[in-house]
Amino acid sequence: MKKIAVFASGTGSNALNIINYFGENDSIKVTVVLCNKPDAPVIEKAKKAGVKTFLFGKEQFYDSDIVYNYLKEIEVDVIVLAGFLWLIPDKIVKAYPFKILNIHPAILPSYGGKGMYGSRVHEAVINSGDKESGITIHFVNSNYDEGNIIHQSKCKIEENDTAETLALRIHELEHRYYPEVIEKVALGILP
Ligand code: GRF
Repeated sequence: MKKIAVFASGTGSNALNIINYFGENDSIKVTVVLCNKPDAPVIEKAKKAGVKTFLFGKEQFYDSDIVYNYLKEIEVDVIVLAGFLWLIPDKIVKAYPFKILNIHPAILPSYGGKGMYGSRVHEAVINSGDKESGITIHFVNSNYDEGNIIHQSKCKIEENDTAETLALRIHELEHRYYPEVIEKVALGILP
């Protein structure tokens, strides 16, 4: 069985969607949700879905091997970032070549980088006057939003869109495509 670890620190709609997608699948499973925020709604969602959670702080993440050792101990195959805002330490990046994925709520390389997350992304897209936005799924390296791109899907920006209405459309795309891409990476069909 391929084991997936999801890193998430926010609402967790993607995390839950991924957990559910692999719910009936005996060859791929989300085995843990790792989180750096004790009060993040994703924790409750994971628990309700019967998935264990692992909480850690900044010092543990960057100045110790606690998270790295945990991933190795439970024999994780694929790491999925779903609303996780910290850079992944080099040691973990190097240990999982082409096995760490992130999803970004815009068409990279535009509207990415440090500080570009959540509604900030959608506001920047709308203010730019672009006619389209979309999602990018990419492999993770040691820089924000810069790893090799695996998948992009676009959607129209309507004239009266706000960051909130655009975010809803983007979330639909994320929920539709992220699990499929994760499955292909877990099964070795990608890259
Ligand atoms: C998603 O829009 C994703 O693109 C970004 O963070 C957001 C997480 O949303 N990386 P959710 O917590 O999964 O609802």
